[in-house]
Amino acid sequence: MSVARTQPTCVFGLMWGDEGKGKVVDLLCPAFDVVVRYNGGANAGHTVCVGNEKFALHLLPTGVLHQNIIGVIGPGVVVDPVMLLSEIDRLAERGIDVANRLRISDRAHLVMAYHKLEDQVSERAAGDASRIGTTARGIGPCYADKMKRITAIRFGDLLYDSDILERVRTLASDRKAALAAVYGDSVDLNIDGVVNDTRIARERLASSICDTAALLHDQLDTGVAVLFEGANGMLLDVDHGTYPFVTSSSTGPHGIWPGAGVPASYVKTFVGTTKAYATRVGSGPFVTELDNDTGDRIRQRGKEFGTTTGRPRRCGWFDAVSCRYTAQLSGATDIALMHLDTLSGFDQVGVCVAYRVDGETLTRPPSHVSRLEKAEPIIELVPGWQEDLGAVRRFEDLPANARAYVERIEMLLGAPVSLVGVGPDRSQTLIRGRLAEQITVPEPSST
Ligand code: IMP
Repeated sequence: MSVARTQPTCVFGLMWGDEGKGKVVDLLCPAFDVVVRYNGGANAGHTVCVGNEKFALHLLPTGVLHQNIIGVIGPGVVVDPVMLLSEIDRLAERGIDVANRLRISDRAHLVMAYHKLEDQVSERAAGDASRIGTTARGIGPCYADKMKRITAIRFGDLLYDSDILERVRTLASDRKAALAAVYGDSVDLNIDGVVNDTRIARERLASSICDTAALLHDQLDTGVAVLFEGANGMLLDVDHGTYPFVTSSSTGPHGIWPGAGVPASYVKTFVGTTKAYATRVGSGPFVTELDNDTGDRIRQRGKEFGTTTGRPRRCGWFDAVSCRYTAQLSGATDIALMHLDTLSGFDQVGVCVAYRVDGETLTRPPSHVSRLEKAEPIIELVPGWQEDLGAVRRFEDLPANARAYVERIEMLLGAPVSLVGVGPDRSQTLIRGRLAEQITVPEPSST
């Protein structure tokens, strides 16, 4: 393997998603040729601000906003073709042509309308205590079909299975009947619509479908610079997150091997991304949650409303216990600390340094949800800062208390904070250490 001009890098979320990964990927993109999604589906929502324009992407790798980047959707992603095509079309309307720069794995699975329906009706039927609060994008049901094998549809089937449309019709009818048997006759699915969506997906996406693992290996062997873009966040990881209140995929860099077909050992830089406070959407334990005026203030200042569902996000203080755990699990080499500007104006800012559970002090999150639900945060209050950070461009120019806050987080996580976000624009980013060699922060509002 020859050495790429930039070593393979992974950007992923350390918390429950919405950490600002899209912006980090976007800043790194000029140093890369290929950006790969390897997990999740349209449950993810990446918002990137370029000048006055705001782009919200769900399925496409964020990197495709850069006109020279090849976007790859790997085998570990579950793809709703209707949403993917609408995302491609919306970007085309804004002058960004993605269709010719997109490669979709023939091993990736299709999210069908009946997966979304199942997600909705099962959530609706679940009691308050067991509802996961999913994004209703059909993620869990599609991954379940993938594991069951006989009821799954992959992109390769669109190319190589001549009976695919008939198979889809049968699968959709069977699923409709099965859902109606459990959830009642109100279950409504337009079978012809499902078949037609599949036909359109085949017509419009066929030329993008290929063996992306082979493609990536060929590219890595010839020194092409590849960036892996994790979706969701590590506390939503199906194995390591706050199970069962998680998503259905491997959300950390450990998902790259199965989800892209590239050995994780190829990747040299792991940028774990988190906000300077914590947010969560959907149900499940959230130890540092502030269900009070302080939480409301963070939500308003940080505009914490979901990109995918518009739901208000639950907000709380930074949770160094869970974040250190995911930084350890992932082998994060660098931390990107986003939204530091949101915390301006507080007299004191809280950081959770340990959990108290049944009289025990824990420095790692308990693995069982019942223990996690009982956990009380031990909060260290540090002095806040009043200054607006939006115009700060160098770490050294941050107010002393903001700098001390970042350094405290760095110490608690055991990894360097190499990137600090001080506003939504690309230019509102402070870079330190190793990442400074890869990232050039643009002038305000440039594209
Ligand atoms: P699902 O992935 O739609 O099945 O949802 C499972 C849980 O993960 C729910 O609590 C969702 O709100 C949450 N979730 C999934 N993806 C994201 C994300 O990208 N950001 C934030 N929360 C997410």
